[in-house]
Amino acid sequence: MKFFIDTANLDQIREAQNLGVLDGVTTNPSLMAKEGITGRNNILKHYVDICKIVDGDVSAEVIATDFEGMVKEGEELAELHEQIVVKIPMIKEGVKAIKYFTDHGIRTNCTLVFSAGQALLAAKAGATYVSPFIGRLDDISTDGLSLIADIRLIYDNYGFETQILAASVRHTMHVLECAKIGADVMTGPLSSIEGLLKHPLTDIGLATFLADYKKGN
Ligand code: G3P
Repeated sequence: MKFFIDTANLDQIREAQNLGVLDGVTTNPSLMAKEGITGRNNILKHYVDICKIVDGDVSAEVIATDFEGMVKEGEELAELHEQIVVKIPMIKEGVKAIKYFTDHGIRTNCTLVFSAGQALLAAKAGATYVSPFIGRLDDISTDGLSLIADIRLIYDNYGFETQILAASVRHTMHVLECAKIGADVMTGPLSSIEGLLKHPLTDIGLATFLADYKKGN
């Protein structure tokens, strides 16, 4: 399973990249705003800065909600850097835009997916990635992980190549359960990646090894 980090914070992206396990980055307009990145030119520059830090795919989201606007913006984003994947919302015009980009060799990430039906449509349109938001489903007492399992089943039934990018991952258990189900990618905060490191028996074991070494040296 690929690990993407879901942030526009360059320090956190660098931290995950330096750990050696980072495969890409996802962003969205809210994450950009959180970092104080505003204005079209600054936002475009920030995407390029992110691409320079990581080796993998970087999702850049369109703001337009009409077909022509999404195509114009998406083409501009894709031109920025070869690592850019154009992020398109799961709306009717978005499905048309994904199909357009598929036909023109531009990679897409279909975002704001909350049902298996939406994921099926994204795959039919040829999306490179589909992003089901599992944390936001959990927030409203609906099992986000079941959605990942349903999409996995449907995609495997028909050999769809669209990669399941489990998004709105909040913690380590989401990461582990996504891996068990067979999500292709997970995107979450740095804490969801670094949390995987932690085990008290590792810390106790290491402390004992070092103490025993010191006794004999
Ligand atoms: O990748 C989707 C993500 O940015 C949404 O996450 O935590 O705001 O639901 P969250």
